[in-house]
Amino acid sequence: MMNSDNHVKPILIFPAGMPRSLEFLRKALGEGRSVIGASSLSLDPSQEKYPAWLNLPDITAPEFGEKLGQAITQCNISGIYTPNPVVWDYLNRTLKEIAPGVSLVNESPVDMELNGYRSAIHHAGKLLATALPLASNIAGKKPVAQIELAALVRHADVIPGMCDHEKFRVLCEIARHSPRGDIVEIGSWWGKSAFILARLARLYDIGKLLCVDPWSNQHLVQNDEQGMVDTVSAQVDAEEALAVFEMNLLPYSADHVNYLRLPSVDAALQYRSRRQASTATFGTTDYSGSIAILHIDGNHSYSAAQADIAAWSGLVAAGGWIVVDDYVWPYGDGPQRAGDEFLAENQEKIDVAFVMGSALFIQLSPGGDY
Ligand SMILES: C[S@@+](CC[C@H](N)C(=O)[O-])C[C@H]1O[C@@H](n2cnc3c(N)ncnc32)[C@H](O)[C@@H]1O
Repeated sequence: MMNSDNHVKPILIFPAGMPRSLEFLRKALGEGRSVIGASSLSLDPSQEKYPAWLNLPDITAPEFGEKLGQAITQCNISGIYTPNPVVWDYLNRTLKEIAPGVSLVNESPVDMELNGYRSAIHHAGKLLATALPLASNIAGKKPVAQIELAALVRHADVIPGMCDHEKFRVLCEIARHSPRGDIVEIGSWWGKSAFILARLARLYDIGKLLCVDPWSNQHLVQNDEQGMVDTVSAQVDAEEALAVFEMNLLPYSADHVNYLRLPSVDAALQYRSRRQASTATFGTTDYSGSIAILHIDGNHSYSAAQADIAAWSGLVAAGGWIVVDDYVWPYGDGPQRAGDEFLAENQEKIDVAFVMGSALFIQLSPGGDY
């Protein structure tokens, strides 16, 4: 935490033109912090982005330490930000002599870049070591290798959206215990859970993923009890969300991902009649028409959640899974009421039902499509 004095004293950003430097600059300026950019290039195009600027010799030059020390004194610099691993390491060793009292404001750039990967490997190892004892009517396939799971954790982590650890863990397990068929997701937004499902579809050879979402601001309104969710929804751009979704899914699609930009009830009619989705980004994808995993994470009002379940649950295969997200939701009880109704009305067709994390997981009985 910076104290007010440090807010006034500038931070030196060096080398100023690196992408992480510019990211730090934007954040610092947004927080009202004083910054100075520095570079060893005689002409650095990033200079115009900085409110103040100075030139430094190359870090390998014998006079570097002396010039840096002078600049720190003259400009009253309180700290240094550098995303360059070599500069960081050099300053980490020498700064206390060059300018006592001045310190690096960021952690090691190598650690910073690798921390997410390290925790993904750790998380994947933990998931494999503590397998979930799932009472499924479909025998589990061999769990994927730790590196595959780590890749899934890591890449999911950089996609914005919400998928708590418990839900992630169960999604991995139900995918392992899933029949073959389509995976259908109602409500994809930026594509976090869609990405997870797309990878699980490949890792466990389940089938193709169909994402259903109107990506329209109108459909975001869910009349949550205190209006808190709707207030945030009104500030987001649905067109941009679809572009973000496409950017997130495109690199991972092995011709097995597509979407219908429709409200779920209209999309169900199209899926029933044509079993096909065609988009400019993903091309044309043919689906089997039998759903192995149905992930419902659309509009959370009671009527919308109920309509999603009514429109799609009849297409789920024997032994297939229905996941009702946000069954436990602080902003309303739409998914829970709709999920409970489904459970009450279909007891004889359901083999397994449990809540983990925020989601309700239901596995249909084997033998004969529901
Ligand atoms: C909670 S977000 C989905 C989050 C996403 N599953 C994730 O992992 O980040 C809800 C989504 O439901 C979509 N939605 C709203 N009404 C819908 C409807 N009638 N049919 C399908 N999707 C709908 C919204 O556009 C929004 O993208």
